[in-house]
Amino acid sequence: MNASTMSNPYSPSKRAEMAAGQPISMLMAHALENADLLSLAAGFVDEATLPTDAVREACNAIMGDERAARAALQYGSTAGNRRLRAMLLDRFLADQSTSLASPPGIDQVVITAGSNQLLHLIAESILDPGDLVLCTAPTYFVFLGTLANVGARGHGIETDDKGMIPESLDDHLAHLNAAGELARVKAIYLVPYFDNPQGITTSPQRTARIVEIAKRWSIDHTIHVIADEAYRELRYSGPQVDSARAYDDDGETVIVAGTFSKSFSPGLRVGWGMLPRNLVEPVCNQKGNMDFGSPNFAQSIICYAVEHGLFDRQIEVLRQGYAPKLQAMLEAADEFLGPIEGTSWTHPTGGLYVWARMPNGLNTGPDGPLFQRAIEEGMLYVPGRYCFPLEGEPVPENTMRLSFGVQTAERIREGMRALATAVRKAQATR
Ligand SMILES: Cc1ncc(COP(=O)(O)O)c(C=O)c1O
Repeated sequence: MNASTMSNPYSPSKRAEMAAGQPISMLMAHALENADLLSLAAGFVDEATLPTDAVREACNAIMGDERAARAALQYGSTAGNRRLRAMLLDRFLADQSTSLASPPGIDQVVITAGSNQLLHLIAESILDPGDLVLCTAPTYFVFLGTLANVGARGHGIETDDKGMIPESLDDHLAHLNAAGELARVKAIYLVPYFDNPQGITTSPQRTARIVEIAKRWSIDHTIHVIADEAYRELRYSGPQVDSARAYDDDGETVIVAGTFSKSFSPGLRVGWGMLPRNLVEPVCNQKGNMDFGSPNFAQSIICYAVEHGLFDRQIEVLRQGYAPKLQAMLEAADEFLGPIEGTSWTHPTGGLYVWARMPNGLNTGPDGPLFQRAIEEGMLYVPGRYCFPLEGEPVPENTMRLSFGVQTAERIREGMRALATAVRKAQATR
């Protein structure tokens, strides 16, 4: 072949190869191909409750003030808007039931473009290819993609309805140590509040023990605890629980990741990190090389919303909007899945998700008998297997994540009925 007519083949980097094949693209493709599909898969927030009035008010106020407008339209600093960081820190400290032994300073608060960016920056700062992060099994599946992106490995720890089981964490660490892999363990990843995918909250006793175990096994390097608090504000009932950071006496272990995505607007892409002192510089270096600061205009809007009480008002709107939807999903689960022997599900008191277990042997995976049938019945769920790290605890084949954030209560009920019909049909042909 003539060299001039031959198109040059793309030669992917190792990074590009490691980033490929994440489930999110497959799920989005299904949703797009079948526009009528009743999706209980997407973890989006409810469009009806997005704070359009609050953001309009903030934009008008910012643009109506020449100095504020110019500042908002200019680049900001790598670590982010200082007023916003100060407010985040004050609110965080005020939320804890007691004062922290070693409270973070404002220089330890970094604003990022959504908390996913923070998780990436942390991964870039502490992980080398082959390193291990211990996660609940199941865990937030996009985070498993973040690990894959840097060539790191997720390792599942046994988890029940109170979160990661500390004894299992300790056992896995002992085994990894015996296998010569302790030097590879760099972090423990938790979503302590109303987690993704199970909707459960880690009990304070467990959180305290997990931090203690991380410190005990930090023999020649720090094993960080990444506390991803994405759903902290979406609490519909039950008491407020202290952050994992409250159990970190010297402040060197726990990394807190927060976001305004679920509590205000994901479109603004504003998240933050509260970092151990040693991680501030590496994370800011990574961020400086990437974007030298998250969108400044979005930070100004959030800052205004927090300062003027619009953010707190929005949290109330969300609680009132989501609580009945959660209720609708749990009632529909009782009504439609309840009569099917072998099914069970979590009973969250916040967040956006319910985690369901199908009868033993019924594979919920994309190639199993249920997934396609559920689509034929008109609904979509997230196959549970996507949420399990490949190493560590065994991966059950009969689980799924169901999301109640996007659909109305009626459609949630319809979706759950469709799911139950699909389960019965799949069972009949087994
Ligand atoms: C557990 C968890 N962490 C982080 C995120 C990322 O949120 P964002 O990057 O929008 O702040 C999500 C989004 O669904 C999530 O479920």
